[in-house]
Amino acid sequence: MKRRILEITITLLSISAVLILTGHSAAEDSRIQGGDTTSKSTEKTVEQVFKNIKVLNGMPQSKLYPTMRFMAASLGFQCGSCHVIRNGYIDAPADDKPEKQTARQMIKMVIELNKTSFQGNPTITCNTCHRGHRTPQSALLLPLPTPTPRTTGTLVAGPTDLSAGAPSADDVLKKYLVAIGGKAATDLITSCVVKGTTTTAIGQVVAYESEQLVPDKGHEAFSIPSDTGRPCTGDSRCEYARVINGQQGWLKSGAGVQELVGEQLADQKLSFVLFQILKLKDQYSSFHVSGRDKIDDRDVYTVNAVRSDNKVERLYFDIENGLLRRRISYMRTLIGIVPQQTDFEDYRETGGLKLPFTIRMSYADPGSIPITRKFAEIKLNVPVAESTFEKPR
Ligand code: HEC
Ligand code: HEC
Repeated sequence: MKRRILEITITLLSISAVLILTGHSAAEDSRIQGGDTTSKSTEKTVEQVFKNIKVLNGMPQSKLYPTMRFMAASLGFQCGSCHVIRNGYIDAPADDKPEKQTARQMIKMVIELNKTSFQGNPTITCNTCHRGHRTPQSALLLPLPTPTPRTTGTLVAGPTDLSAGAPSADDVLKKYLVAIGGKAATDLITSCVVKGTTTTAIGQVVAYESEQLVPDKGHEAFSIPSDTGRPCTGDSRCEYARVINGQQGWLKSGAGVQELVGEQLADQKLSFVLFQILKLKDQYSSFHVSGRDKIDDRDVYTVNAVRSDNKVERLYFDIENGLLRRRISYMRTLIGIVPQQTDFEDYRETGGLKLPFTIRMSYADPGSIPITRKFAEIKLNVPVAESTFEKPR
């Protein structure tokens, strides 16, 4: 039982870390790699915020947790495999565990390798060698697998081969805009109110509400009941809220109110349909159709896109109906590229538009399960008070 509580605490810890800290800045990446930065970002570095940083120095603070989760996922570890857990809480600055010390050496090695052999890009990562295991396999295992007979004749085009007839990125975006209702219809949308459910970090399904104002205001809230089933009404410890208000944003949880910094803001918009779906093109500075793929047996075009904040994303558009099916954003850290995936499903007609009624977010975190929002209704152009988007208390 004690063990289970510990596991849940750790899961919650790492999930709230997911929710709180998912952000990055390309400008800051170039700073890490010694390049010039044109952005006057005010985000603090990890060593300014955390207590015992010896090798990740210079990295924007919002990348600390994604980096930790990336290491854990690459080794098949939990946070507690490298960090001391005391009374169910992680004592992250403590250096007691040999695994943490080894991890520091490994981080240094990876940074050095990438610097000297890969132009400073995070090409070699923990996952390159570890592949989900504590100890990488260095020796060849005998007997070797039986070689498959060589096929004769012409090579068949692979699934990602883009033969003649591939559309331009512009065509894919145009088809998408028509599919969700057309420019005239989407231009008329000013606000929405969403009601439905969301899953929590440990898989409970709870009521969810969200309000959004075009172009850049959003609020969402839900409550998580306690383990003991104690009712939650009036207990601020189990209330969660996220607010985006232009260039500012906050996350409210049982642990208090956190300010969202850096590109955390942009990433935190992923579950807001109006930002994600209606103004898709405005979010990117370049698009390029890169290939074809399949998701759940449906053919999709893959599009590589660069966000206005220079973050790289891959978008997946359904070839037949033109709708956006998936979006993966890639965060560069010192030791690897961390993906975050958002799936859009169950598109339905509402107020003349086609919007996804299920949004699923998956994180590179060994302890976490995908977070799924299911909407029962999306009401468009209903009045929403400006005060909804103030800093939560
Ligand atoms: C593979 C080992 C490893 C795993 C797994 C790991 N960490 Fe770490 N963690 C480290 C190392 C090493 C540092 C110190 C980095 C440095 O010195 O620059 C660190 C530092 C930290 C810090 C900063 C502590 C401080 O104040 O100095 C926090 C917070 C943290 N980790 C949280 C986590 C969480 C949460 C998880 C699980 C999602 C996790 N870590 C998983 C190795 C790990
Ligand atoms: C070039 C390959 C390579 C890369 C890249 C690499 N490792 Fe390792 N790592 C190894 C090998 C090999 C061992 C086993 C060493 C041994 O058994 O003596 C190991 C062992 C470890 C251990 C000790 C495991 C134990 O049994 O206690 C930790 C922790 C670890 N690595 C963390 C990391 C982290 C974190 C990263 C990314 C920052 C990383 N490694 C990247 C090859 C690599």
